[in-house]
Amino acid sequence: SSLHKPTNTSITLLLMSTLKISDGVVKDEVLVLGLASTNSKGGIAIEAGDMAIDTKTILSQLVDMGATGKADEVTKLPGSHVRLLVFTGLGKKSANYTHETLRRAAGSASRALAGNSAATFSLPAKNLAEVAAVAEGAALGAYSFTEFRGSTKDDHKAPLKTITVHSKLAASSEAKAAVVRAAVIAKYTYLVRDLINTPPSHLTPDSFTKKLAAVVKSAGGAKSGLKIQIWDEKQLKTQGFGGIIGVGQGSANPPRLLHISYTPKGKAAKRYAFVGKGITFDTGGLALKPAAGMEAMKSDMSGAAAVSAAVIAIAELKLNVAIESWAPLAENMPSDTATRPSDIITIFGGKTVEVLNPDAEGRLVLADGLMKAQSSKNKLDGIIDVATLTGAQVIALGTRTSAVMTNNQEFSNDFLQVAAQCGEQFWPMPLPEELRASLDSPVADLANIGDRMGGMLVAGLFLKDFVNPELPWLHLDIAGPAYNEAKPHGYTPVGGTGIALRSLVTLA
Ligand code: BES
Ligand code: MN
Ligand code: ZN
Repeated sequence: SSLHKPTNTSITLLLMSTLKISDGVVKDEVLVLGLASTNSKGGIAIEAGDMAIDTKTILSQLVDMGATGKADEVTKLPGSHVRLLVFTGLGKKSANYTHETLRRAAGSASRALAGNSAATFSLPAKNLAEVAAVAEGAALGAYSFTEFRGSTKDDHKAPLKTITVHSKLAASSEAKAAVVRAAVIAKYTYLVRDLINTPPSHLTPDSFTKKLAAVVKSAGGAKSGLKIQIWDEKQLKTQGFGGIIGVGQGSANPPRLLHISYTPKGKAAKRYAFVGKGITFDTGGLALKPAAGMEAMKSDMSGAAAVSAAVIAIAELKLNVAIESWAPLAENMPSDTATRPSDIITIFGGKTVEVLNPDAEGRLVLADGLMKAQSSKNKLDGIIDVATLTGAQVIALGTRTSAVMTNNQEFSNDFLQVAAQCGEQFWPMPLPEELRASLDSPVADLANIGDRMGGMLVAGLFLKDFVNPELPWLHLDIAGPAYNEAKPHGYTPVGGTGIALRSLVTLA
């Protein structure tokens, strides 16, 4: 499909111009194959999938190059039939590589191929689900963010434009559907990453809504079952969104609430609400964060980006589920108009909160979002919030594993299974009742901070106060995994990762 350029915005959905499956002769100049390690003494084996390869001379060249076949190792050799042979590490040789192993190996290779225009991937994928994993990984690895480069733009090699997955299953209609799905997943993951990487100078609550409105339009708008609604600061104030107003009132860039809904053509099998934290920059407000590392807080709208992109992706895939996404958007700034510690705000629906720490702002905008999402007349089957909510999440689970908290074990188990299937690492965390008392306030219905120990769980317990106990609910804390400040790996670049998008779409 074509390059998307929504009108009047600066967001570009960079989609590889082609993603396809073929069982024919390799026409590209670049061929990507797998490489596995066979023993601890440096033994290696080429894993070429459905491609017949004369491996003898190549193997000795790979040994000379020091290739070991470990994950994230990419070795390039000049080819004879093709210009370049690229070997991507699969780790230990196996009869059954996991989807995630294939996804990451394909992603590492496509990252390493920036500057080339087209490549054919032939990895050990035996069935369609494995072929789909290769396609998805290759597409997700072909990402770059150069929008704000000026004089150094040309120093950066463009990502792969055409990705072909070689498989003897190419002829089936299911193969075509798998490629369409991989392309949609990649396109909307790119959107999430672009939004996260865009700095607060260029991404405000208002411009976030405008960019998404343009994407909804380019995805077909009402024709595709998509509807969009935006609340400005005046409407938020008169309609009682005290959380969003309280967090946003210190900033010159006023807050917004963005609602995107998708209604399928037939009768929807289920209806879910997604609510994403949309802090376009989190300075901590009057509880100002230290300067070191504050720049990463441009990623504090990752939840809002994930839920907004997910609902559009779900519409583009024409899935038979109704989705209502909500993105409460605000910039958390310190100023003479900012919320002060001890201020009391009223969340949508009437509960009051004593703001003891204006840096615990995510839960305030989410409380408004959760309450509004549950006030709609349509009966929900489940509600999921997604947020870069706590530093405690990163302390507990590290930078690559997100947390799931819930009021419904079955919903959580289903989600965890789906997340594992699409290669997103999530882990269940409890909501211990005894921690709730630490959120009691002497003057309001509750306070916005409680015990420091178990801070991720305390934040989850705060949100639980704003969810109907009968409604299955998941709280996803993606604070660490949303933004990669370390090295790129597999299909994951530096910066915005796009985490949660795939799980939400796959769940739907
Ligand atoms: N946006 C931060 C959480 C965060 C931290 C996300 C690190 C990504 C990386 C959130 O708004 C925050 O500041 N949370 C506070 C809560 C505390 C004041 C109870 C925190 O975790 O320190
Ligand atoms: Mn904060
Ligand atoms: Zn925050």
